[in-house]
Amino acid sequence: MTNIFKGMKPSRRSFLRGAVASGGALAGGAAFAEGDPAILEKQSWNQYLGDGVDAAPYGVPSKFEARVRRQNVPWLTADPVSSVNFTPLHELDGIITPNGLCFERHHAGVAEIDPAEHRLMINGLVDRPLVFTMEDLMRFPRENHVYFLECAANTGMEWAGSQLNGCQFTHGMIHNVMYTGVPLRLILEEAGVKTAGKWILPEGADASAMTRSIPMEKALDDCLVAFKMNGEALRPEQGYPVRLVVPGWEGNMWIKWLRRIEVGDQPWHHREETSKYTDLLANGQARRFTWEMDAKSVITNPSPQAPLTHGPGRTVLTGVAWSGRGTIPRVDVTIDGGMNWHEARMSGPSFDKSMHRFYYEFDWDGKPMLLQSRAHDSTGYVQPTKDQLRQVRGENSIYHNNGIQTWAVNEEGVAENVEIS
Ligand code: MTE
Ligand code: CO
Repeated sequence: MTNIFKGMKPSRRSFLRGAVASGGALAGGAAFAEGDPAILEKQSWNQYLGDGVDAAPYGVPSKFEARVRRQNVPWLTADPVSSVNFTPLHELDGIITPNGLCFERHHAGVAEIDPAEHRLMINGLVDRPLVFTMEDLMRFPRENHVYFLECAANTGMEWAGSQLNGCQFTHGMIHNVMYTGVPLRLILEEAGVKTAGKWILPEGADASAMTRSIPMEKALDDCLVAFKMNGEALRPEQGYPVRLVVPGWEGNMWIKWLRRIEVGDQPWHHREETSKYTDLLANGQARRFTWEMDAKSVITNPSPQAPLTHGPGRTVLTGVAWSGRGTIPRVDVTIDGGMNWHEARMSGPSFDKSMHRFYYEFDWDGKPMLLQSRAHDSTGYVQPTKDQLRQVRGENSIYHNNGIQTWAVNEEGVAENVEIS
């Protein structure tokens, strides 16, 4: 909040004058308090030498950030090897998810793979079935792209009504990372896809041998065989040494620990695209192959895990938005449950199929609020309300809940997950 003091002497009188001039809305900071030891006294870190350069060969966050961590929901975790934990969205800013905070979803635990022993095989309807080592993959031209990965089940517990109290738990099955990898198109071209080859089946090397059918157009379009995330090797839990990146499409298609890609002439109708990852509608029919993730947004601060800790006055609201179909040119925000909408301020890079960051700064009057955000994507699609979504999809669904989220904030600044209709 240094700009408050710009050109001003930090005396109590001039500070108060400044506050009046800005309409009384003090943007953080307090008038100089005599006797405040934090400003008057020398702290220990002022007086003694700190750790030397080699204290942490691989750096970790400050111990004061220990609360910033992935968390699971115990009643969703019957067994950790087939479970999920959640990204602490309310602790993050900007658009990149740090590697150690990317949510994890495993169907059979984390495979521990020695990259020297790992192979990627291409077989099926190809001219030349091929097997690549990691070193072979590194000799293809690489690309860098920032993409979000959202599990189809993100917000899945909220279909019938508001349930989990925190954006980490309602919306944290998402991460946004810069990937370095080889376009899948180049690898398929190397093997030579036969004319009849219309689908691919990527398979994981973990004990779940996860597979999904992906149409050839997508495989040739923007999929990546990725080995780096945010500049360093993939984390084991994110698929080390190599994973498939399927931009904008549901997370379960992003096969981790990728060991095989079969080319076929039709989809395989495996478990994860029949009994799972389909949406049962009210009329008994199921939506299938719902690959693209619809535009969605959530306010991360304030939110149940990140209440307002200040009284009335200048307040910064922030959140994230994304779309599997393009960019997010606009997010609207309301603090009164949708009576008045305000266009939020977007800040940070706007990449295709990547997370976007928005802010809305306002003077809080200290009264209860109903906070919502509504994303617009570059195709013109507008994020629906939960009621609009339920009218079309019924209430049997788990996957693809992109309805507008509401947080109720009371006079004390405490936030709660609610629904309004
Ligand atoms: N790939 C393999 N081999 N095994 C898995 O269990 N889980 C899938 C997908 N790829 C999975 C997998 C699911 S359901 C999701 S949402 C994403 O990986 C999660 O990726 P993450 O753990 O990097 O967040
Ligand atoms: Co998933």
